[in-house]
Amino acid sequence: MDRPRILSGIQPTGEMHLGNYLGALRLWVDAQYDALPHYCVVDLHSLTVQIDSKHLSKRTLDAVAMLLAIGLDPQHCTIFVQSHVPEHTSLTWILECVATMGELGRMTQFKDKGSSQESVSAGLFTYPVLMAADILLYDANKVPIGDDQRQHLELARRIAGRFNSRFGETFVMPEALVPPVAARVMDLQNPGSKMSKSSESSLGTVFLLDPADVVVSKVKKAVTDSDGTVHYDPENKPGISNLLEILSAITSERPDQLALKYSSYGALKTDVAGAVTDILRPIAERYKELSNEDAYVREVIRNGAMRAREVASVTLARATEAIGLLEPPAVASE
Ligand code: TYM
Repeated sequence: MDRPRILSGIQPTGEMHLGNYLGALRLWVDAQYDALPHYCVVDLHSLTVQIDSKHLSKRTLDAVAMLLAIGLDPQHCTIFVQSHVPEHTSLTWILECVATMGELGRMTQFKDKGSSQESVSAGLFTYPVLMAADILLYDANKVPIGDDQRQHLELARRIAGRFNSRFGETFVMPEALVPPVAARVMDLQNPGSKMSKSSESSLGTVFLLDPADVVVSKVKKAVTDSDGTVHYDPENKPGISNLLEILSAITSERPDQLALKYSSYGALKTDVAGAVTDILRPIAERYKELSNEDAYVREVIRNGAMRAREVASVTLARATEAIGLLEPPAVASE
């Protein structure tokens, strides 16, 4: 069988955290050896909320360095920056003319992010169409994502299906690849909400570059409950179940099985803190080395843009032809 084609993306809006890692990035690393993966730092998506233009380019470089630090190997996958591949915005326009206002208005992420802002950009509304373009340009069969991106992936499938049925088979139908546990890592201080870079308290989010003592302190202070017994029950014991899922994602033991090993919250927290610091240590070490390898990181980005454009331009040409746009005249290169 052909190797599956994979596409996924991450925003360069701040430091990456344990939710990103366990929910998606680990799958990116695992997939690179038996698939054809394209991984994208989605800088254009980050323009949809307050634009931090002073720091965006540095954050984009840092995000690529972080992807290398977690173990992505440019020999096995293409790492690129979304804005370097203009086919993404060209295809977005075409897909915006296929998507409907109604379906975009139903996106929960738009409703959540939009409701907390005084002025909502049109880009925030059409955000999922750009994401659909990211995915469809690379003929992705599989899209490794955390649970919060499922609805966007569903929309990408609907848009692809509608385009194909109106204009002929053009796009490959993508499927979500969501991890069996830790697909939604919860905030340690507020286990009713997902862990995120923009949490109210930084105590709730373990960042991949947090020093070991900070990780231990955040895990030890994680909010639990007053019941005192360790068992896996996400609905009634969200704090403890979140810790069990984190440990399960790292040890590959089922969360309900892990629960049987613990008679106190303290012992569970000690093991979670230990397991998390063990996986973060080599990432931080590699990231530190990469801070002196700016030329290498830029080369990865340059090669990635070239490789990504080769694939994206073919798919875009297929889509423009299918929808009936006049083929552009060849432009002399000199
Ligand atoms: P972003 O940048 O918010 O997050 C990157 C990835 O991390 C996952 N994730 C989580 N998983 C588990 N628990 C959490 N608490 C958690 N927080 C984040 C996300 O599900 C995601 O997989 N719209 C996307 C970026 C994107 C994209 C794409 C993804 C743009 N184009 C094409 C896939 C394919 C986003 O904002 O992810």
